[in-house]
Amino acid sequence: MTKLIDLSKIDYFTEESSVEAVVGRTGAEAQERLAVVWSSLVKHLHDFAKDIELRQEEWDIAVQFLTATGQICDENRQEFILLSDVMGLSMLTDAINNRRPSGATENTVLGPFHVENAPEYEMGANISLDGKGQSCLFEGRVIDTDGNPIEGARVDVWCDNEDGYYDVQQPGIQPKWNNRGVFTSGADGSYSFRGSKPVSYPIPHDGPVGQLLVQLDRHPYRPAHMHYIVTAPGHEKIVTHTFVGDDEYLKSDAVFGVKATLVASFEKNVDGDTEWRSPFDFVMVPVMTKEAD
Ligand code: BEZ
Ligand code: FE
Repeated sequence: MTKLIDLSKIDYFTEESSVEAVVGRTGAEAQERLAVVWSSLVKHLHDFAKDIELRQEEWDIAVQFLTATGQICDENRQEFILLSDVMGLSMLTDAINNRRPSGATENTVLGPFHVENAPEYEMGANISLDGKGQSCLFEGRVIDTDGNPIEGARVDVWCDNEDGYYDVQQPGIQPKWNNRGVFTSGADGSYSFRGSKPVSYPIPHDGPVGQLLVQLDRHPYRPAHMHYIVTAPGHEKIVTHTFVGDDEYLKSDAVFGVKATLVASFEKNVDGDTEWRSPFDFVMVPVMTKEAD
């Protein structure tokens, strides 16, 4: 005897039930966090498509854009991170994951130009190997949120040169390790190094993300900044920049990285051997250790 299926009882995909249809397909053995993330992603994406009445030709363009974004990626170029940067998603993720008490140094976006294992220098050394740009003394202290000095903190720094490029963007043109170095804070928490005053520069904009910015009538520039990664045992890692205070792009950073507390002072260094001096203290948060029951 043939068994008849009652078609009215089957929950086929419809415009109205689209979220339930997809989310309901997730199996009982799915990884718990993945199931949470997937459900929310599907809900928001479907809501988005319904909200804007997504047109077929728009979805086709989006697929072409994502394809091009993937195709330009290689070991040196990460266009998806760039996309996340210009959408503010990198900064939002960073904010969610690095909530700190007031007074502690805030994080900002890492960017694609950090290189591991830069040369380690003595305090006060000059990292500007091409000798270009306006010379600047960067100095300050690494302290904790109670104001105690942190000795032995690792201060990893990098910035662009006078022409607005990082060394890794111009191999063979700039000396290797130009404008990069690692310093270690002294007993009183102090650090200092010489370098060139950073200049504003455009993020890589010769790919799909650059084309998107043009179509959004947005510029690709970042305000001038010095990058820092500060680490010390027992303290939260700081990934941040200091920004040059009078930069024309401070209020329109292409990747939304500027925070008021990270805008540093750059003063004319009248008595020193550099044209500029930029003081900045890093305030680290102790890592919470789980107390024994
Ligand atoms: C940077 O500051 O190096 C950077 C950050 C995000 C995208 C591109 C560059
Ligand atoms: Fe940068």
